[in-house]
Amino acid sequence: MNEINLTLKLSSYTKAELPDEIVLLFEQAKAALKDAYAPYSKFKVAAAVLLDNGIVVTGTNQENAAYPAGICAEGTAMSTCASLYPDVKPKAMFITTEGRNKNKSIAAPCGICRQRLVETEYRYKSKLEIWLGIEGQDIIKINSAKDLLPMAFTPDDL
Ligand code: THU
Repeated sequence: MNEINLTLKLSSYTKAELPDEIVLLFEQAKAALKDAYAPYSKFKVAAAVLLDNGIVVTGTNQENAAYPAGICAEGTAMSTCASLYPDVKPKAMFITTEGRNKNKSIAAPCGICRQRLVETEYRYKSKLEIWLGIEGQDIIKINSAKDLLPMAFTPDDL
């Protein structure tokens, strides 16, 4: 029997250490929180995506009285990017949240969104940086969506 260990590398940044384009992405994610529709969970999530052409696309969680019909912020953002700019590679996503957990912790993408983000990397043959942050706390960077989903199911498995 061989034990195989997988490791996840994260980087932590103070706001002052962030690259300028990521500061802007954080600001746009925060500004988008007002567009979240979260009357059931009272937990707002916003994702801002920086495309290779410099355009920023935002998405927010959109809930539904039939709970599973709701869509996460990351899913909304990625679908919008792919629908409006199908030929432009997404470079980085900043995810921020508001409510419920009283901003005590940084939330990472759910499992289904990790799968969606991995598909994006395959589609554009490029890593997507994931940044997680809320105001007043250090910001976390994950270099690639794939790092968040070890042993992901990918087109290579089909
Ligand atoms: N949510 C997201 O938007 N992204 C995630 O990755 C995790 C959860 C939303 C879904 C739902 O509207 C609310 O947060 C509570 O689960």
